[in-house]
Amino acid sequence: MEQTFIMIKPDGVQRGLIGDIISRFEKKGFYLKGMKFMNVERSFAQQHYADLSDKPFFPGLVEYIISGPVVAMVWEGKDVVLTGRRIIGATRPWEAAPGTIRGDYAVEVGRNVIHGSDSVDNAKKEIALWFPEGLAEWRSDLHPWVYEA
Ligand code: RTP
Ligand code: MG
Repeated sequence: MEQTFIMIKPDGVQRGLIGDIISRFEKKGFYLKGMKFMNVERSFAQQHYADLSDKPFFPGLVEYIISGPVVAMVWEGKDVVLTGRRIIGATRPWEAAPGTIRGDYAVEVGRNVIHGSDSVDNAKKEIALWFPEGLAEWRSDLHPWVYEA
């Protein structure tokens, strides 16, 4: 099964959206494999978003991510990378469909509440960066009620 890295950004934490966001992934049928509530160092935020370092919005993005604590999580499940992105919604909240997290809760691209890995390869890199200590091993007893095999 696939894993993805999901982070509730500082605005999502400040606005009290942690429970709602976790609930959406949990109820869908994905497994929480790692979670921590933490402040992010500037250099760490720069490393996480290194691919965007030449973008004009990069300095503002880094300031945003270090502006308060975040919830860093790993979720596991069938096609969780792509499905996670669909649960999150489009990067620009005005393009995000209602029912998605950004469609329901965000207005500005620079306050879009949540991060999700955009590919299986990037998920692996992000999980290694954020959870070098490893992840929990478990599977719900309800597994056969969610997954066919
Ligand atoms: P994320 O990595 O945070 O999940 O977001 P994403 O894949 O949907 O979008 P990405 O292109 O990776 O951009 C990362 C974050 O940078 C901010 N951004 N600002 N001002 C702008 O035009 C702009 N574009 C992107 C957003 O917070 C975006 O989520
Ligand atoms: Mg991205």
